Amino acid sequence: MTTSTASGKIILFGEHAVVYGRPAIAAPVTQVRATATVTEAARGSGCLLAAQDTGEEVRLSTASPAHPLALVLRLALAEAGINREPDWRIVLRSEIPMASGLGSGAAVSAALVRAVLAHAGQPASPEMVSRLVYRSEEIYHGTPSGIDNAVIAYERPVWFVKGRPAETLPVGRPFHLAIADSGIPSPTKESVDHVRRAWQADPATYEAIFHRITDIVHGARRAIRDGRYAVLGPLMDANQQRLQALGVSSPVLERLIEAARGAGAGGAKLSGGGRGGNIIALVDGESAQPVQAALLAAGAKRVILTQVGGEHG
Ligand code: MEV
Repeated sequence: MTTSTASGKIILFGEHAVVYGRPAIAAPVTQVRATATVTEAARGSGCLLAAQDTGEEVRLSTASPAHPLALVLRLALAEAGINREPDWRIVLRSEIPMASGLGSGAAVSAALVRAVLAHAGQPASPEMVSRLVYRSEEIYHGTPSGIDNAVIAYERPVWFVKGRPAETLPVGRPFHLAIADSGIPSPTKESVDHVRRAWQADPATYEAIFHRITDIVHGARRAIRDGRYAVLGPLMDANQQRLQALGVSSPVLERLIEAARGAGAGGAKLSGGGRGGNIIALVDGESAQPVQAALLAAGAKRVILTQVGGEHG
């Protein structure tokens, strides 16, 4: 039996603009994980994927070529040099809420790739995991930038530009975030499509917003490198303003962001596709508990406290 896992993720800065070639920063969320377990099954029984959270069972021999998990499994088997369908039962589990901006789909795929390669006794480099998971992201999201698969595959904070290898982001001093789930599912594809339609209708306005976001992301990179967190919070607020202008915020997200700021967060913004999903708020030793309490009181379904940098990624 072989078990492998993969973390969740948050986008710290630059979501949406990253789809248009601008840089973005993301970090792993190691407290929530997806798990894949491979066990040998009876000879001749073939390969069965069982997604425990959704109850879905997929038989590899009959799965559609466009089934995201079956596609990733086929690609991973090919990487492992396994050309005949193995007699395996693969169970997938995830603690990462779906459609919440925490990268649940990419994490399940990454755990699957790692488990297949590990069961075959082969190494799985982050580059390979990222490349294979990207293929399932294309099915889930249509036109993913590739940032979710990259940060989950490297399990380190990353600086990411579409089409280029992800760079590990130096973190001068670890910092802490409260991640609050609005409980409103928000498929990334829908918010990305929404921005694309708006950009097509008015490219000059949207390019100007992306340009401003690019400046913010560069400022954030410097602040994180130097451990200057007094400027990081205002940069999160500035990024949030531009996400509002892109039309991907919502009254529920704004309520959570305001609650976090009111309780002492250094800054706050939505994270990922937006419209629903999660917000992130910059906290420290003093503000972490009051911010968490304020977020729950404002309707957050759950709050995760996470560290960026240091041994936790
Ligand atoms: C999703 O985590 C981030 C988006 O920028 C989409 C993408 O980069 O593919 C909204």
